[in-house]
Amino acid sequence: MNHIEWTGKELRILDQRALPGQIKFVNLRSIEDCYQAISSMQIRGAPLIGVVGAFGLALLAYNAKAKSKEEFLKKIMEGVEYISNARPTAYNLKHCVQLVFKALQSKENVDLMRSEAIKKAIEIMNKEEEFSRKIGENGETLLEDGDTILTHCNAGELATIKYGTALAPIRIAIERGKCIYVVATETRPAQQGARLTAWELKQYGVPTTVVTDTAVGYLMRRRLIDKVIVGADRITLDGYVFNKIGTYQVAVLAKEHNIKFYVAAPTSTFDPHLTHDAVVIEERKAEEITMIGRKRIVPKGVRVYNPVFDITPPTLISAIISEKGILNLPFDKNISRILDNGN
Ligand code: MRU
Repeated sequence: MNHIEWTGKELRILDQRALPGQIKFVNLRSIEDCYQAISSMQIRGAPLIGVVGAFGLALLAYNAKAKSKEEFLKKIMEGVEYISNARPTAYNLKHCVQLVFKALQSKENVDLMRSEAIKKAIEIMNKEEEFSRKIGENGETLLEDGDTILTHCNAGELATIKYGTALAPIRIAIERGKCIYVVATETRPAQQGARLTAWELKQYGVPTTVVTDTAVGYLMRRRLIDKVIVGADRITLDGYVFNKIGTYQVAVLAKEHNIKFYVAAPTSTFDPHLTHDAVVIEERKAEEITMIGRKRIVPKGVRVYNPVFDITPPTLISAIISEKGILNLPFDKNISRILDNGN
């Protein structure tokens, strides 16, 4: 699919806001371009946000004019603060930006710092692709031939570099000869399931049915769903999962109907710093709810509230699939163990 590419001096990305109607690529040449692409959701999905954030800082290092190392580092530190806040909830953003920052700080002069920043951003991108492939290989073992998997939002290739997180086990299972069917929730209000998951799975010939978010309980009660796999924007050490709004409802329904609920995420999504009550939940503009296209669907003057992530507690999660293996309860102990082995 190649929806992201470093050309040697700019980052070429597929504008996800135009999908599925239009295939439109955009070139990001500066940290401001990267900030804009992340905040406007031209690109989205936690691992991809992390990679674009890393390139944002690398592009700043590449372009920054400075008379001294001190002046250069001052600009870089401002850049770290700026790009890290392009969106608040996905941990990958801060994590990947810090990786670039630390890498360049280890060099003694500005020229070496510039090249190190670019080198690190490329390395982060390649590693994310590797993580996804491993998540796919680990998660595939949980899927049986003939399974129907429900997924929410888009945690596929478009949210990562390749394969995806939640969709990676499905892709690998199919590669290995299993028949897998997907049910994708449309995912109000930005419709990542209807627009993106359905589009990308169609490219790969995976049989997919789109349903409204509100149909999930009905489908589960009719035993039409075998397993759920979702991605994550942040997982705290205590095993709480932050993901697209609606994930928590799906998890509660899965528990009620005795359906396995899996979360797939690379270790770059695991936050070793904050506890779940300290994480900022992004709120986006009211128009995402009040308008469908150009048509207003909520009367003018009526208040709306648009939090775009929710929190699923560990008690509702059957297992977390990471590139380092499948984590079972108790998550607090098992997450710390894999992060101690190097994050
Ligand atoms: O607001 P988005 O589209 O960036 O939200 C994305 C999600 O919630 C995904 O499920 C999550 O990032 C997992 S990414 C592989």
